[in-house]
Amino acid sequence: TILDVSNLYKKTCCITHTTTRYLLRMKRLNSQLQEDGAPMELILLLRTILAGCKEISFRVSQGALAGVLGSTLSENVQGETQKKLDVISNQILKDILSESGYVKAISSEEEDDVVPCNPNGNYLVSFDPLDGSSNTDINSLIGTIFSITHAPQWMDSDDPSAFLQPGTQIVAAGYVLYGPSAMLALTTGRGTHLYTLDKTHGGFLLTTPNVKVPVQTAEYSINASNQRHWEAPVQAYINDLLAGTEGPREKDYNMRWVAAMVGDIHRVLSRGGIFMYPYDKRDPSKAGKLRLLYEANPMAFLVEQAGGLANTGTGRIMEVMPTEIHQRVPVLIGSKEEVETCLSYYK
Ligand code: AHG
Ligand code: MN
Ligand code: MN
Repeated sequence: TILDVSNLYKKTCCITHTTTRYLLRMKRLNSQLQEDGAPMELILLLRTILAGCKEISFRVSQGALAGVLGSTLSENVQGETQKKLDVISNQILKDILSESGYVKAISSEEEDDVVPCNPNGNYLVSFDPLDGSSNTDINSLIGTIFSITHAPQWMDSDDPSAFLQPGTQIVAAGYVLYGPSAMLALTTGRGTHLYTLDKTHGGFLLTTPNVKVPVQTAEYSINASNQRHWEAPVQAYINDLLAGTEGPREKDYNMRWVAAMVGDIHRVLSRGGIFMYPYDKRDPSKAGKLRLLYEANPMAFLVEQAGGLANTGTGRIMEVMPTEIHQRVPVLIGSKEEVETCLSYYK
């Protein structure tokens, strides 16, 4: 059928009408969280994080008009040049979480050490304030990734050891993708739900409840410029994908790379695929590029809750016991059968 473009335009251009319809019909964040059994304090903490993300979303959208693009003169603890938006986003989340009272301490990709907040706070929050920040200067996909665990009673608020828990202890994880629409992916362990920020009333509306990652895929995502540094299993696996219909996989694969994990994982959640940042041999002190606390664990939780798999190549990401807050891990995340096939090359 031919799409009636003028009719579609008439239907969708009346924003007030659309919003009213959506507000009446769509489920909001609070009611989904309550349905999933999230305690009220956790809901309030999530809303606090999301208030920060809305502020980041606004700053991002102002771009050059707000003078937020480009780099600072400093580097973070991991030796990476900080973008202005890395610093701004980190400050927004740090301020709002410190003032909220719900949080005992935070750990962030952009902070050298754990940041103590309220000594009586019940939660710990880890975050990558801006993922994919090299994309800021090209007006492309970026996002904020976060996870929440309980704060142990015994812990002092500046003690990093409480953050060294495996991902299985996470009570909620999510990301906000700052794309053509701002979208939230969120799990509290009862499935993964996708929400879209309605900028006319300022709330996240549930647009895909219980998203499911297709079990099979013909799409993969890896930075192929690192190929010469990969280990043998990854070399062999990717070679077989590249061989397409003429190789052992007997089908043609397509490749996608956003250069922001948040964008690549959003695609995996939306239509399946495998996303990889494997171990490479350049720097034996780093097990991979992506950070366990800020990137790998929250994405692993979201994808597992949507029926996908998340592995390092040698074990489940969420079972890795962290030894330090900025630890890096190899990452293979995506459609169940494709990740299983990839893992078979490691055996
Ligand atoms: P960040 O911007 O938080 O430092 O993270 C960037 C990460 C990740 O999002 C992405 O998958 C990867 O780095 C891309 O790096 P390369 O393009 O250098 O491989
Ligand atoms: Mn990142
Ligand atoms: Mn970052």
